[in-house]
Amino acid sequence: MKYIIANWKANFGTTETKTWCESVGAKLMEGSKLNTMFEENRLTVIICPPFPLIPIVKASLPQIKNLHIGCQNVSEYEKGSYTGEVTAATLSGNVKYAIIGHSERRQYFHETEDAIGLKIGNALKAAIEPVLCIRGVSDTIHEYAQYIAYEPVDAIGSGNNASLDLVLGVKQKMGIRPPKAFLYGGSVNEKNCKLYLENPEIDGLLVGSASLNPEAFCSIITQV
Ligand code: PGA
Repeated sequence: MKYIIANWKANFGTTETKTWCESVGAKLMEGSKLNTMFEENRLTVIICPPFPLIPIVKASLPQIKNLHIGCQNVSEYEKGSYTGEVTAATLSGNVKYAIIGHSERRQYFHETEDAIGLKIGNALKAAIEPVLCIRGVSDTIHEYAQYIAYEPVDAIGSGNNASLDLVLGVKQKMGIRPPKAFLYGGSVNEKNCKLYLENPEIDGLLVGSASLNPEAFCSIITQV
């Protein structure tokens, strides 16, 4: 199974979301090779929009096996008086996956490994599968996270995607092996995705900027 995850970050409003879903939805429905990939559990696509756009994506995309919705964070708190937080319990049933510990959250929102551990626990309790992002070998591989996305900070949003050697080296050094899935993210686009997709050691891609463009994103999906 290869996983392609779209991380929209803090982009898009209602109109852009509907346009994107129409375009991507049509493309996903048209290809018979893609249909087979989804049906035979060879491809999973996960769209991670900002929270308020989740129901719009859900309503606007066609129902396809192995096409799922995720979120980009969950609260470290289970519930209660935490104004502005969105808990895993609230998200339960609305998303199947949650990106957790993204480097932008570690940097701008000061997420610690302890907080990330709590988030993973809360997600799992709410039947949401965490996708743990790590920046490199000094980050913790939390035991219960089955999906690990390696995203070197200098590769994110820079156009400088990491070399295969670096990606595979980190996987090996950190001892990441099945049943954990190992994904790469950082300046992945329709031109460089093949490099990673062709490698049996890499189970998928976390795509930021290129996921905002329906053509680029669909091109990545069709190269799986
Ligand atoms: P990028 O972002 O594809 O724009 O580099 C990836 C990410 O931060 O998940």
